[in-house]
Amino acid sequence: MLNKFKSFFQPTVKERVSIDQFNAADLDHQGVTYQLRRLRSADLDQLMAIQRDVYQGQAPWNRLVFLNEVNKRDRHLYVGLFTPADELIGFIGAWYNDLELHVTNVAIRQRWQNNGLGKQLMLFMINQARQANCSIVTLEAKVSNVQAQHLYHQLGFVDRKIKKNYYTADHEDAVSMALLLVD
Ligand SMILES: CC(C)(COP(=O)(O)OP(=O)(O)OC[C@H]1O[C@@H](n2cnc3c(N)ncnc32)[C@H](O)[C@@H]1OP(=O)(O)O)[C@@H](O)C(=O)NCCC(=O)NCCS
Repeated sequence: MLNKFKSFFQPTVKERVSIDQFNAADLDHQGVTYQLRRLRSADLDQLMAIQRDVYQGQAPWNRLVFLNEVNKRDRHLYVGLFTPADELIGFIGAWYNDLELHVTNVAIRQRWQNNGLGKQLMLFMINQARQANCSIVTLEAKVSNVQAQHLYHQLGFVDRKIKKNYYTADHEDAVSMALLLVD
């Protein structure tokens, strides 16, 4: 068989890197070295405090849900953003499979918002998706959450569809968004 046809029939096999192995990494941003670290049950108090901080005293996800999330290692990643003084100021969580990485949660403490840190967390997770060879990154955002949607659009996410009554607590609709990862 001619070489050019041979290569057509042979799919390029890319090495799949396991996100599950991620533990910690430095994040240099605007002259400060933050740390990104896989979250553990010992971080739950701070995690709950961030939720109350960003959701006006409410905690949409209870402690047990977070405990469950941070303990999942298989194809799940929950990462915290820590200051040099080791204060947890944000987090991002995701699950993934061979095709898709789905961001389940992202938040930055109010006092630290609008400094580009939310974008850094998203870029970190998108990079993890690329390393795992996923083709698409997906997420949902409340239709009223223009701040988050602005950030996602800026990163190249497009709106897919509206999911009616998506949030159980207040029955708000969600906009489903996706970022295609192409080489
Ligand atoms: C969404 C969230 C994580 C973004 O974090 P952040 O650190 O403030 O985001 P960044 O500083 O990286 O900002 C990203 C972009 O959003 C813009 N932005 C910030 N506040 C905004 C607002 N109120 N309205 C519109 N855009 C806004 C920033 O200006 C920036 O865009 P720019 O680069 O063009 O200036 C943060 O607002 C948050 O924790 N919100 C509460 C929890 C939440 O809603 N999570 C998302 C669930 S889908």
